[in-house]
Amino acid sequence: MPWGQRYGALVNLSSDKGLPLHSVIDMKRSNLQIRGFSKLTKEAKITWLTEQHLSDPPAGQALIASYNHLDAGVQKRHDEFIENTLANYFLPLGVAPNFRINDQVYTIPMAIEESSVVAAAAKSAQFWMDRGGFTSTVVSSTKVGHIHFTFSGDAHALTALVARIQPELLAATESITANMRARGGGILSVQLKDRREAMEEYFQLEVRFETRDSMGANFINSCLEEMAKVLRLEAATDAGTATGDLEVVMCILSNYTPECIVRSEVRCAVNDLDDGSGVDVHEFARKFQRAVRIAEVEPYRAATHNKGIMNGIDAVVLATGNDFRAVEAACHTYASRDGQYRSLTHCSVENGEFRFWIEIPLSLGTVGGLTKLHPMVQLALEVLGNPGAHELMGIVAASGLAQNFAALRALTTTGIQKGHMKMHLLNILNQLDATDAEKAELTAFFADKVPHHADVVAAFCSLRGIPVPSAEGVHS
Ligand code: MEV
Repeated sequence: MPWGQRYGALVNLSSDKGLPLHSVIDMKRSNLQIRGFSKLTKEAKITWLTEQHLSDPPAGQALIASYNHLDAGVQKRHDEFIENTLANYFLPLGVAPNFRINDQVYTIPMAIEESSVVAAAAKSAQFWMDRGGFTSTVVSSTKVGHIHFTFSGDAHALTALVARIQPELLAATESITANMRARGGGILSVQLKDRREAMEEYFQLEVRFETRDSMGANFINSCLEEMAKVLRLEAATDAGTATGDLEVVMCILSNYTPECIVRSEVRCAVNDLDDGSGVDVHEFARKFQRAVRIAEVEPYRAATHNKGIMNGIDAVVLATGNDFRAVEAACHTYASRDGQYRSLTHCSVENGEFRFWIEIPLSLGTVGGLTKLHPMVQLALEVLGNPGAHELMGIVAASGLAQNFAALRALTTTGIQKGHMKMHLLNILNQLDATDAEKAELTAFFADKVPHHADVVAAFCSLRGIPVPSAEGVHS
């Protein structure tokens, strides 16, 4: 029985010994503590994991083995990205072609599991291809990091100290910043921030950086840690500050990058919004703008609206080997910068012109990190023409905007389920282990219908001539 089916939708869960499967697993779970796990070989880790956690260890081991790369060297590299690697975890890598951005056409790689995302991006890209495409502009690319510390002494003395030791702070990072400075980046400013209004004795050294084509997290953190050593030492020996205690709590970059901003925009005459589907373009523009406005004023809607934007953004960020958690953190913080969580996109309809734009913080790299290590990341970057970080920021922002355009267009016209479920139909059919012939027949059957899960299961069972399973065995 295939592994997917073993725990799949239509299977009655029980063990060989007649005990309910969950009892067997519960018995095993009583002894799940292990010391020195990270020191075990990969094989030993897999053996322990499958024997302790799974009902059928050999099947689990075979499944894990099947997810290893054929080339042992490539697999070893993947193994070494993280600790305790067992195998690889596949996500589909798709492409959305026909993205016209700043008058250049891109085929955008997207790594994502959600069925409708790539199709939606491609559809929007095609739509805007004929209407001038996307215009992306990097507004700024400054990143920031902090030495968070407490100081119990005289704040004036601390201010004087930080002003005096600026050369020493920079000198301490010389060897780390040399390459970056050669590439036109480095440290832009070092500023003392008095945050005692927020927390007792709390100060920061806020350091601003330009990191060129690298995302710069390691670079920033290394600089901060070297500077913190100088701060500690100088504060202890300076006559003005030595009377108080200075404790460095931590040194870390901020993933909130409100000075690392990209904007992407589409615009066209309202009359040109006609896509041949017969919708009234003025009605469409008005309703679309209203939908964006709702996400600007209503956090419940803003969360879903922005989630759809992140569908487009994360998929490209992931395919290009960037840190999607950092991007998520920055975008959501930016979305709530005035105290309320709001839409990341905006729309205007004025003087017969429709404009739709996104403005987001994006801290991305096209050198360093995974870019040289992960062969598929290298491929994705090559497909994009090996962009620098600024160009990639523009591409990613356009992808987020395209995604939001597709979602809002569907939501305000046909409803989201029509397109969404159409793409999801294949997932349902795969869950049911439909053959290619059955998939073709059922896809044709649902061509003009919304394929709700229960209807697909019923149609599938009727095609096979088997009874429809009881509702509790069926996943939605
Ligand atoms: C689903 O992943 C994303 C949407 O919900 C986004 C939206 O509602 O705007 C369709």
